[in-house]
Amino acid sequence: IGEGEGEDKCSYIQIINGGKKFITCNIKGYLASRIAFFLLNIRISSHNIIFTRHGESEYNVEDRIGGDSSLSNHGKQYATILSQYLSNEFDQTYINLWSSDMKRTRETVKTYLDSNDENHLKYINYTEHKELSEIHVGICEGMTYNEVKEQYPQEYQARSIDKLRYRYPQGESYLDMIKRLEPIIFELERTDKPVVLVAHRAVLRCLISYFLDLPAEEIPYLDIPLHTVLKLTPASYYNKLEKIKLM
Ligand code: F6P
Repeated sequence: IGEGEGEDKCSYIQIINGGKKFITCNIKGYLASRIAFFLLNIRISSHNIIFTRHGESEYNVEDRIGGDSSLSNHGKQYATILSQYLSNEFDQTYINLWSSDMKRTRETVKTYLDSNDENHLKYINYTEHKELSEIHVGICEGMTYNEVKEQYPQEYQARSIDKLRYRYPQGESYLDMIKRLEPIIFELERTDKPVVLVAHRAVLRCLISYFLDLPAEEIPYLDIPLHTVLKLTPASYYNKLEKIKLM
């Protein structure tokens, strides 16, 4: 489409020189404007994203969901091993380090930050993001899955039938989370540095599924083990995901 061409015939979005120039023509309505906004925010990048869950938490040990518990001893061990891994991976490289604002992710990240001297800390840009909090489980806060099954059998059943759309009473669904993670996805698309993102099981399911282009129905079942680094390497038409078990 040449300059000025097609104005009276069609609607289009033209991205020139890998995003240096952006032309929209006859873009009207919600969906088309969302697509334009999305395209404005993505770029072809070559940096890695390292995803990991926090180290094992006290609630993980008891198989409880929700809450804001601290790391278990095992989880603290992972935080140390992870910081060694990150120091080897990013020696004198500027990185963005993101975590949720929950205790278990903060504690995991703190071990890494504390292991760096001032000389190295200048390479790490650390920010906390409220959007990266784990799925809110509402009335099931602090329960085990068995307790949910006993005390709220209908809720348990409804979730097993449609885990993607099921919303915990006074809590969230996976679809709610996907919405709240949109700004994070834009930031991940936009940033020009490697990112290390320390978050939670359900959150990482949503983010990684986006980058692997997985069908929505598969999102709530993606395997995101504890004590494992998930390294995403972008390419033009697909992203590669490596699972590196550290413990
Ligand atoms: O058990 C750990 C945890 O992060 C919980 O806090 C959260 O509710 C759950 O995993 C999410 O996984 P699922 O959607 O499979 O219940």
